[in-house]
Amino acid sequence: MGKSITVADRKNLPHIVAARQRIEDLWARGTDYCESTVAEAQAHARMLHLDMDFTGECQLKCFYCDRTPDRYSDVPNRTELTTEQHKDIIRQARELGATTIEFPGAGEPMIDPGFWEILEYIHDNGMIPVVFTSGWHLNELTIDRLYRLGATIFIKHNSDDPRVQDKMVGVKGYGRVATRALHLLVERGFASTIPTRMAIDMVVTLHFQDMEEIDTIFRWCRDNNVHNYIMTLIPEGMADHRQVLFEKRRADELIEFMTRIDREEYGLEYVPSRPMGGGYRCRQVNVGLFVNLFGEVYDCNGLGRLLGHLRHDSLADIWQSTYARRVRQPDQNGFCLLRERQWRGVDLGPMDRKTEQYLHWRNRHEADPVMENALDEISQVEIHRRGARSRAVDVEILPAGARPADTLPAQAPAKP
Ligand SMILES: C[S@@+](CC[C@H](N)C(=O)[O-])C[C@H]1O[C@@H](n2cnc3c(N)ncnc32)[C@H](O)[C@@H]1O
Ligand code: SF4
Repeated sequence: MGKSITVADRKNLPHIVAARQRIEDLWARGTDYCESTVAEAQAHARMLHLDMDFTGECQLKCFYCDRTPDRYSDVPNRTELTTEQHKDIIRQARELGATTIEFPGAGEPMIDPGFWEILEYIHDNGMIPVVFTSGWHLNELTIDRLYRLGATIFIKHNSDDPRVQDKMVGVKGYGRVATRALHLLVERGFASTIPTRMAIDMVVTLHFQDMEEIDTIFRWCRDNNVHNYIMTLIPEGMADHRQVLFEKRRADELIEFMTRIDREEYGLEYVPSRPMGGGYRCRQVNVGLFVNLFGEVYDCNGLGRLLGHLRHDSLADIWQSTYARRVRQPDQNGFCLLRERQWRGVDLGPMDRKTEQYLHWRNRHEADPVMENALDEISQVEIHRRGARSRAVDVEILPAGARPADTLPAQAPAKP
């Protein structure tokens, strides 16, 4: 797969040298928030990052897709936002300071009728569009257009074997198209900047990949300046099911495995943080919001905690609400509430777990009117659960400023 590089060369690759000073230089452009940037934004209550959804339509059928709950658009009160409403929300985000608009995708973002119009709007307003895509709709023309619009691309790449890719998405012929698209992105120059403008998104499931393959894909990413999300599943939607999820021990082994390669072969030292390998630490909860297809607002695109509803309140009102400020106050620094609460045995229904923390919080504080409006709005939303149930326990809310206790053992900190 692609360029092969000797171990001696690896440590001198420009992006690897840069990352020894600033690990975020290995992350994808538009998502490379370092601690000082986050601290500065927090000090001024500034938003940096808005996640929002495009269409829930998708021609693939991934057995692990976390976004299926968002496709129940026939539920009363759940009508999809229009292209004009999307643009208005982006305008509001920009006024709050946003520099990145990310599309994680309720379905396949590239088939939304407003996709190109909205990307142009983001580009014209000086922000970075970040697009997650299966690669099914990428070709020379669309890749060139995305390049000129300043986009950063996360492309699905679950395996180097097209047959495995086909099985994972349930569509024959997909793997060949997507692998070609991955290489076209490199050829067009998406990996020629620091930070890079491209990443692979690889979900590691119990049934498909082995460590040898992860090892090959991880090295290819490092050698070619391609950021990687190589990670265990988010327990939502089709993946809200114990039979497809990695347990915590295996997730830790996966991360330690990537950390060892980085240390021994690339001379990179960092403290890893579950659930992401390669030194990546998600900080988006501290600096952003996620808006789904229907205007529901959450802390992140994994649908962790409901924070408001845009049919009732403006983005600014939601951003500044008492509960939203409380949610983004603790230093996230890589912590993934979605996976951790499942690993801790929390097993509530899909909508209950998104509101549970607020209901606990409301017992000790005055009700937040923005959240009360959102609760009214979602009261008719019934999300069907695909997975198995086990015992239910209380969801922990971290005290102000606290770091989650249950992180990986510390390794040597990054050397200056
Ligand atoms: C939900 S998809 C939407 C965008 C596009 N359709 C795609 O597949 O890339 C965005 C990314 O999330 C990944 N994904 C899907 N279900 C997931 C889950 N349960 N846990 C973690 N990632 C997941 C997909 O593989 C994909 O890389
Ligand atoms: S992961 Fe992406 S490609 Fe797969 S079904 Fe979900 S939205 Fe479609």
